[in-house]
Amino acid sequence: MGKQIAIDGPAGAGKSTIAKRLSAEKGFIYVDTGAMYRAVALYFLKNHMDFHDAALVEKNLPEIKIELKYVDGSQRVLLNGCDVSTDIRKEEVGNAASVTSVYPPVRAYLTALQKRLAEENDVVMDGRDIGTVVLPHAQAKIYLTASVETRAKRRFDELEKKGETPVLSEIEEDIRDRDYRDMHRETAPLKQAEDAVLLDSSDMTIDEVVEEMKRVCAEKGI
Ligand code: DC
Repeated sequence: MGKQIAIDGPAGAGKSTIAKRLSAEKGFIYVDTGAMYRAVALYFLKNHMDFHDAALVEKNLPEIKIELKYVDGSQRVLLNGCDVSTDIRKEEVGNAASVTSVYPPVRAYLTALQKRLAEENDVVMDGRDIGTVVLPHAQAKIYLTASVETRAKRRFDELEKKGETPVLSEIEEDIRDRDYRDMHRETAPLKQAEDAVLLDSSDMTIDEVVEEMKRVCAEKGI
């Protein structure tokens, strides 16, 4: 087994920022599993198909090919050969992904892909079910969280910086809905693995979180 660092937690806790930093420092590849779920959701949005229809989603899965490519160390996501790394970042896609990721066939398809990536590479992988389902034997597991208010404010600042005019109360509501769906679905719900270290980033800077993660990894000998 290669080296594996698993990071789970709710939307907006800062997983990807931290995972990118950690993977660069360790020289491991970064696998953003949320991006894969987003790419699947994007397929249905792009093709104007009802992603609330579980049977339709399952029927169309064989038409969907998701690949990860690494350009200068950064992850690009390909949907049927097209780079969708920017498109998948939209709020609409994140919300749709939270719906389609509930369906077991979608999870089975992407979990197999994620496991394969971890067999072939040393990885920092982030998502919702990495420490519990995808990489249950990861040497280091971290559950990164932050309060709903903190996560909403971070997202609000991010969108404002992009020139958008977000509404804080709407972002908070979206985050609460997504948390609920992610934590209460039947297959692979978001939860802290028994052997994961809990980190609440509400009052921490990015540097502090990275340092704490490195300390956890060192403790686990990775
Ligand atoms: O982390 P994110 O916001 O990019 O993830 C988008 C959605 O994908 C999220 O609401 C839940 C789902 N997801 C999942 O179910 N399992 C994962 N390992 C990663 C993401």
